[in-house]
Amino acid sequence: MPYDTHSIILGTGRAAPEKILTNADLEKIVDTSDAWIVERTGIRERHIAEPGTGLTPLASEAARKALEDAGIEAEQIDLIILGTVTGDYTFPATACLVQEQIGAKHAAAFDISAACSGFLYSLQCADALMRSVGYRHVLVIGGEVLTSILDWSDRNTCTLFGDGAGAAVLGVGQDGSGLIASHIQSNGEHAHLLYNPGCGSMYPPTPENVDQKVNTIRMEGKEVFRYAVSSMLDGLSKVLARAGLTSEDIDLLIPHQANLRIIQAVGKRLDLPEEKIFINVGHYGNTSAASIPMALDEARRSGRANKGDLVAMVTFGAGFTWAAALVRL
Ligand code: ACO
Repeated sequence: MPYDTHSIILGTGRAAPEKILTNADLEKIVDTSDAWIVERTGIRERHIAEPGTGLTPLASEAARKALEDAGIEAEQIDLIILGTVTGDYTFPATACLVQEQIGAKHAAAFDISAACSGFLYSLQCADALMRSVGYRHVLVIGGEVLTSILDWSDRNTCTLFGDGAGAAVLGVGQDGSGLIASHIQSNGEHAHLLYNPGCGSMYPPTPENVDQKVNTIRMEGKEVFRYAVSSMLDGLSKVLARAGLTSEDIDLLIPHQANLRIIQAVGKRLDLPEEKIFINVGHYGNTSAASIPMALDEARRSGRANKGDLVAMVTFGAGFTWAAALVRL
């Protein structure tokens, strides 16, 4: 792909498990209340996968819908990149399992671990590989089954997360639309403010480690909140500067859907009116790598994001990682 062309979004799709867990349901599991959760996070309900079903069915459903929307056959896909921290197995990559499910038999496939930044990290990698290798059609997916790594006795975390997947099919465009600018960044200094210690090489699933619930999310919520707002603003300012644009040029901001207060703080600092900010955290909770592609798909299908619009996407997550992208639809 020559440097004067852009990777463009040809189609999007999303999938969420049927089962819904409301705040009222959570009140029966931990010492919490609907009022507390709504006031502090904006979350009212989240979709949760049946235990033992894994990520592949959700990611494959989102991928099939994105392919249909794009009018592209699975066999035309050259590459699949899946952002996730809750793949089916430690290996192989869940992207390979999705490849098999959808019949993308000519594709290379791999996962990217960047937590809530997984989709935008994958998008930047896809774009770079399209430019350097010449891939024509790339399937980028963000998906999580975060409920598989929650400690259901910890009200600080189990109230925040949900499951789902979102996907986008990228193609090559030359009409000025597509990915205009993107930025990814990390700061490993804060790795332990938000992490899942278990089931890697440090804490393998021995009986003792399983007893200690090592395979669950640990989070210092207040610290995460603080860094999330400043990092998301940093990412956005970098892509806007790179594109020679300002926040006034944004038609729709699609922020990572972690917490309504984080989203509102970012929107306020950018002086963006409410109608220019896409919010669906109330219905899905924080779906980590899935949140942006799910929101992007909902925004496109509901008419909130239309052809020609400048869409800004921005995220922050464990690592810490953060990322932003500007896309002209
Ligand atoms: N229900 C009732 N009480 C709760 C709950 C709950 N679900 N969770 C925590 N509390 C209690 C705490 O135990 C604490 O009680 P204490 O004072 O008796 O110790 C009290 O509420 C206040 O706790 P804080 O942690 O200070 O509450 P805060 O206002 O910071 O809100 C929250 C917590 C919602 C987690 C907030 O810090 C936050 O949103 N942080 C960002 C975290 C996040 O979004 N992480 C997702 C991953 S990263 C990302 O996606 C951006």
